[in-house]
Amino acid sequence: MEKMITNQDIIEVVFCMGSSCFSRGGNRGLSMLQAYLKENDLETRVIVQGRLCQGKCQDGPNIAIDGKHYRSVDPGVILDLVKHHLENC
Ligand code: FES
Repeated sequence: MEKMITNQDIIEVVFCMGSSCFSRGGNRGLSMLQAYLKENDLETRVIVQGRLCQGKCQDGPNIAIDGKHYRSVDPGVILDLVKHHLENC
């Protein structure tokens, strides 16, 4: 029997969409995450959102997963972070 998805099984990933974070790699991370979610049928478990610049551009790319902030996130690390949160939600 397939497990029902509850709100607790869903995580939220928020990307800073400011130009600095985006050009530092946020855009590649977002593309990689969207492709990964689609390929692995996880689009219903991971909500991807964007936010405006938070004034911490020097730390970018900045993302938040379930309210936990991560800075200087290399695009290649985003998938590991999301997998970690999915496994622990
Ligand atoms: S562009 Fe992301 S914090 Fe400013």
